[in-house]
Amino acid sequence: MEKPEAVKLIESHRSIRKFLSRPVEPEMLETILHAARWAPTSHNMQSYSIIIIKNQETKNELHRLCGNQRYIKECPLFLVVCADFYKMHKAAEMHGQKLAVEELENILVGSVDAALVAQNLLLAARAYELGGVMIGGIRNQAEEVGELLKLPPYTFPVMGMCLGYPDQDPWQKPRMPVEAVFHDEHYREENIPAALEQYDKTMTDYYTRRTGGKRTSGWSKEIAAYISEPRRKSLTEYIRKQGFDGK
Ligand SMILES: Cc1cc2nc3c(=O)[nH]c(=O)nc-3n(C[C@H](O)[C@H](O)[C@H](O)COP(=O)(O)O)c2cc1C
Repeated sequence: MEKPEAVKLIESHRSIRKFLSRPVEPEMLETILHAARWAPTSHNMQSYSIIIIKNQETKNELHRLCGNQRYIKECPLFLVVCADFYKMHKAAEMHGQKLAVEELENILVGSVDAALVAQNLLLAARAYELGGVMIGGIRNQAEEVGELLKLPPYTFPVMGMCLGYPDQDPWQKPRMPVEAVFHDEHYREENIPAALEQYDKTMTDYYTRRTGGKRTSGWSKEIAAYISEPRRKSLTEYIRKQGFDGK
């Protein structure tokens, strides 16, 4: 059976980190942003906001705040997707209700809404032959990002996204064996060790070929090192300060 174009688009994903200086046409951007709004959303709350950044000085500042990732200042267009309960705060005020966002639940709801809209943004952009990469580095110094972008209470940045016309054609990064991610009827713990071993071989081969032998480690060793340190400790405090107690 011939795969539909939408499936081919999804399956051809690669993050793009090098861009032509050509700007994204305003009409194209408008269509991409509007298309993204059709993401499903928890309880129809639409608990996200998208900050659209073209200004070079702002991009330079964000580049600094997001761990000096070169492509943030080089991309023609940078989006910041935020979790946003400010609108619910206003709705609560309008109707004399109290906004109860103490639980972890609403941090998840806002983050999930933001992620769904972000993936829609990227897919819509790719349909126009643009490319992009999501930027979790936006949470490195979330408070400073919040100040720069004038984020009100009950909001926080979830991810950034570089977008533009690709100036690279990178290899596709292999995904885990399906046994590590699909489970028939119930979770199959017994499948995980073999799947990881297989994925280590795949990734060793991938990096060895891609870097001409400069990088040869598999997936599990790199991830074990990455995950062994707590990350972005200041984020918890900032999210609390923004009004989410996260009990
Ligand atoms: C929420 C999120 C945050 C990410 N943050 C960064 C980032 O800060 N810098 C970066 O270079 N890539 C970032 N990425 C891209 C991932 O590294 C990339 O998706 C992953 O390595 C798989 O590669 P691929 O997208 O090319 O298939 C992020 C991806 C996601 C989904």
